[in-house]
Amino acid sequence: MLTGDEVTAVLDRQTAVMEQVASGAALPEVLDSIVLALEELMPGSRCSVLLLDEEGTLRHGSAPTLPAGYSAAIDGLVPGPLAGSCGTAVHLDAPVISEDVSTDPRWARYRELAARYGLAACWSSPIRSRSQVVGTFAVYRGAPYQPDRRDQELVRRFTHLSSLAIEHDRAAEEREARHRAELARQSAERANLAKSQFVTALSHELRTPLQSITSFTENLQTLDLSPDQRRGALQRISVSASHILSIVDDVLDLARVEAGAMPIDLQDVDVHAEVAASLDLIEPLAVRRAVAIHRSGPSVAVRADRRRLRQVVLNLVSNAVRFSSSNTTIRIDTEAAEGVARIHIVDEGAGIPQDLMARLFVPFDRLGADAGREGGAGLGLVLARRLTEAMGGTLELDSVVGVGTHAVVTLPAAPPGVEF
Ligand SMILES: Nc1ncnc2c1ncn2[C@@H]1O[C@H](COP(=O)(O)OP(=O)(O)OP(=O)(O)O)[C@@H](O)[C@H]1O
Ligand SMILES: [Mg+2]
Repeated sequence: MLTGDEVTAVLDRQTAVMEQVASGAALPEVLDSIVLALEELMPGSRCSVLLLDEEGTLRHGSAPTLPAGYSAAIDGLVPGPLAGSCGTAVHLDAPVISEDVSTDPRWARYRELAARYGLAACWSSPIRSRSQVVGTFAVYRGAPYQPDRRDQELVRRFTHLSSLAIEHDRAAEEREARHRAELARQSAERANLAKSQFVTALSHELRTPLQSITSFTENLQTLDLSPDQRRGALQRISVSASHILSIVDDVLDLARVEAGAMPIDLQDVDVHAEVAASLDLIEPLAVRRAVAIHRSGPSVAVRADRRRLRQVVLNLVSNAVRFSSSNTTIRIDTEAAEGVARIHIVDEGAGIPQDLMARLFVPFDRLGADAGREGGAGLGLVLARRLTEAMGGTLELDSVVGVGTHAVVTLPAAPPGVEF
């Protein structure tokens, strides 16, 4: 049995280990401390802990002083009636003492391995947690050995300590898993809510042009309209239909890019050429609004999908034009940086209040802006951002009320040497 001094020594070590557990140390570290503490109390012993995984296989847990080659060979041990001391101890759910592994039949398969690493005796005890075997605690010796009652008492205490450490670790893991499941549930709930809000907003957005089509069609059918009035009605129907079509196109693009199903054809692309192509489409509106567009910056080449890059630039520049007052200037500037290229689109419009910035990328949210004559559905920015991200880039917006808005598209640069 243990002497009074030994009991004190054991208690000291147990306390140190429990403090380590309480401070949140990782399980391998705690098991190493337990093993080293027992080795100190049982000179000449080398100990190890194996842990049972979900498949019922024994995996390395801790063996700070056993040869690494031996531990690696034992890792993955499958319990059974003739599986050395540890595998047999799990199989029998009882301690297995092999006083001499060179003659013990349970060691027949591992005898050579043990001899190669100078291990002659091995005694293994199952570690239990919540009445289940969760691993083994093994004590090896360099010569045949029979444990005495003191050894048995020490191993009993340290096996118990290991089981507490493992239990604590599993409980923490379970808490962590529950937490993750809760986060996943919340995020699914949020996604669901976002989806139904999206559908509500989409229906709302489609209703106005559809009502307009319905009422003008009815007028055409029931009223005796003059040729001018008929032309006007048909014109309104056509505008509403185009509006619906553009919303549907954007919604489909958004759905595809969010599902990761948008085909993206990455090529080396000359930014100035694509900006120029986008500007061709927006120039008439800029002229109508008396907004000047200035371009500057070096020629830069990016990896991008030509069509999608134009779509992004068009969205951003059309915002800049639509939300600028007349006689202001929009600047489009290119910049080459480490591995990336940037396109800056800076306007002198009204700017966006800080508290609304978070809603910029919410579909159908126009931040209170009227859809107006050339107004959009509030899909442009979210789509532009998703498209840019699908090309491996980012889109950021910065805005100061009364000063203007600054959009930055960052895309991976084309490989060095690509020039246009
Ligand atoms: N450059 C800007 N200056 C001021 N406000 C802006 C600017 N860009 C966007 N906004 C605000 O953000 C809102 C959302 O922009 P977004 O491009 O997503 O939608 P939209 O332009 O209203 O419609 P769509 O782009 O679908 O035609 C706009 O309605 C506007 O209120
Ligand atoms: Mg827009």
